[in-house]
This record gives sequence, C-alpha cells and structure tokens, in this order.
Amino acid sequence: MSWSGAGDHVRLQARHRVRRFVGALRPVGPSPEDLDWAGTLLSDREAELLAAMAPADQAHVLRVARSVDTATIDPGSGLLDERDWMLPAALLHDVGKSVAPLPVVGRAVVTVVLWIGGDRWATGRTERAGWVGASARYASYPELGATLLRSAGSDERVVAWAREHHLPPGRWTVPDAAGEVLAGADDRD
Ligand SMILES: [Fe+2]
Ligand SMILES: [Fe+2]
Repeated sequence: MSWSGAGDHVRLQARHRVRRFVGALRPVGPSPEDLDWAGTLLSDREAELLAAMAPADQAHVLRVARSVDTATIDPGSGLLDERDWMLPAALLHDVGKSVAPLPVVGRAVVTVVLWIGGDRWATGRTERAGWVGASARYASYPELGATLLRSAGSDERVVAWAREHHLPPGRWTVPDAAGEVLAGADDRD
C-alpha cells in the first residue's frame, strides 16, 4: 500500500449524486472477493451491519474502501498507521442507510428536500411507519449509522466518520488528513 494525500477533493456535489443515482438504478452487489476482503477488516458485528446494507450500497462502500486502500499516502502524513480504522470507516460510513429502506426515487426526493433546507422536517418522524419514517431516517442516516456502530463496539473514529462524512472539514473530529482521504474516495465514486 502506498498512500499520498487526498488533496483537493470537493464535498458531495451534484454530479456525484447523479452518478450515484444512476448507479443505484442498477443494484449490483459487491463481488465475493470484495466481501471476503471486507470480512478480514471488520469485526463479526460490523460484518453483520455491512451485510444488512442494500447491495448497491455495499458495492459503493467496497469501492470507496478499495480506493482508500490503494491511495498513495505521503509517508510524512502520519496516515500509514491509520489503516486499521480508516478501512473499516470507509466500509461502514453509509451503514445508517440500512435502517432507511427507500427506493432510489425516494432517496432523490429526500436529498432535494435536504438541499432546500428541509432537514427540520425529519425531527420527531424517524420512528414513524412507512415512507414517512423511512424518509426521516434517510435524512438523518449519518447519525443513525453512528449509533449502530457504537452499539457494535466499533472504534470511535469509525463511529465519528459515519456521523461526520457529509459535514464540512471544519466539523470533523477525525484527523483532517484521514478525512481528506476518506472523503475524496467517497466523492469520486
Ligand atoms: Fe453518505
Ligand atoms: Fe458514501
């Protein structure tokens, strides 16, 4: 593994969301080889959480983790010793989506609502049945994912990245250099 700094990634932008939307219309899961590799990086409880994700979401996080694994890291960045939590963080950053089973169109609608500032709508609705509850949970899936991971006993940095991966860098608690690599891999997929 040779890693270099992720540098100039941008946070999730429209073209990434469009590509992800189109990709999700073709729900292809990860390969058996990728799942075997993921199993070597996760605890049993974390592997169960990964397995509960939709196939297209599993394929996405596997691509993100492969990208992080093959990134070129500057030896002076201090990240060479961070692999043990960064790869699980890549594999589990979107795990909260598993408790918000929405069709692709529903995800797109929630995303648009969030863009125009409707995040308050989700408050108090996450326990509701049907599409209302699923939409509210999708709107808050980073926080729900962090809760799942904490219950599973994950490393606190893995928990933090699930919560923080759509926040701007200034609000990360994970080291900036690690967040840049993780966010860059996520944004490129
Ligand atoms: Fe995400
Ligand atoms: Fe992601």
